Amino acid sequence: MIRWQNLWRFIPLFGLMMLLLTGCGDQTISALKPRGPVARDQLFLMKLSFGIMLLVVVVVFVLYLYVLVRFRKKKGDKDIIPKQVEGSHTLEIIWTVIPIILLLILAVPTVQYTFKLLEDHRDNKDALHVKVTAHAFWWQFEYPELGIATAQDLVIPTNKKIAFELTASDVKHSFWVPSLGGKMDTNPGNTNVYYLQADEVDVFKGKCAELCGASHSLMDFKVKSMDQADFDQWVAKMKTPAAVPADAQKGEQIFKDNCLSCHAVNAQGLGAGPNLNGFASRELVAGILPHNDESLKQWIADPQSVKPGNKMPALGLKDDQINDVIKYLNSLKLK
Ligand code: CUA
Repeated sequence: MIRWQNLWRFIPLFGLMMLLLTGCGDQTISALKPRGPVARDQLFLMKLSFGIMLLVVVVVFVLYLYVLVRFRKKKGDKDIIPKQVEGSHTLEIIWTVIPIILLLILAVPTVQYTFKLLEDHRDNKDALHVKVTAHAFWWQFEYPELGIATAQDLVIPTNKKIAFELTASDVKHSFWVPSLGGKMDTNPGNTNVYYLQADEVDVFKGKCAELCGASHSLMDFKVKSMDQADFDQWVAKMKTPAAVPADAQKGEQIFKDNCLSCHAVNAQGLGAGPNLNGFASRELVAGILPHNDESLKQWIADPQSVKPGNKMPALGLKDDQINDVIKYLNSLKLK
């Protein structure tokens, strides 16, 4: 049996593991590898505050070790208490003034950057506007200027400001794309605004960063950045969905009877569930599963086994009906 008293022995091991594991990173979801101007500004602030903290820790530890060694009781020393110092004005002033200076060094750029990011956001004549609505446990993205809506995969052009308006339909969530910038809360009943921008073509990972329910940790999304020309093409494709092939029409009918009341399948429809226009071209199923028939089957047959607490009902479809629906979903390509 484990002696709980002895567990403290493992603390250095845990510490070492923590150091090792913090080295595990992913280029597409790391605030330490900024991929846009907002994330770069924010990383500068992180480095600045970390630098100041490191300086304080080093100075304190050096003093501590110095005192340990300097005032150690040596062999032959008598049991005496050294002279006690109290109320030294000079020392009091020094250790009050130094933190004030450090806080000023931290505060001035932080306030400066906060207002700079706000100014940059307000100067958004050329920005692309995206309205984000967080639902338990998925993300809805609307492009009011373009007349399209999508879910789970946010598609954006590179080197262009994306001005976000963020809200939620049920509880508080938080929109976070670490590679592009810090998080922003999405609150039911009000709208938060900020902007992000991507330098290059890539697929970034996004997360919900506010504990929102049983599947909070599964409330992922993707951000696909593409060149303006490719983005324009994507918009055009979203507006003219591919025709449903003959062998998928049976599935289309089942979908219409069972799913269409929540899932729109057109350019800008919104419903209780994600808009599935162009679904076959999305990265993942339900935001977390690899995009294949097996995942779709699992999701449609038993949604709660994939994302506990989500609002999609198990429809009780038969296996061949599910297969037909999958055939239909696979036909929803952006041609
Ligand atoms: Cu939504 Cu956590």
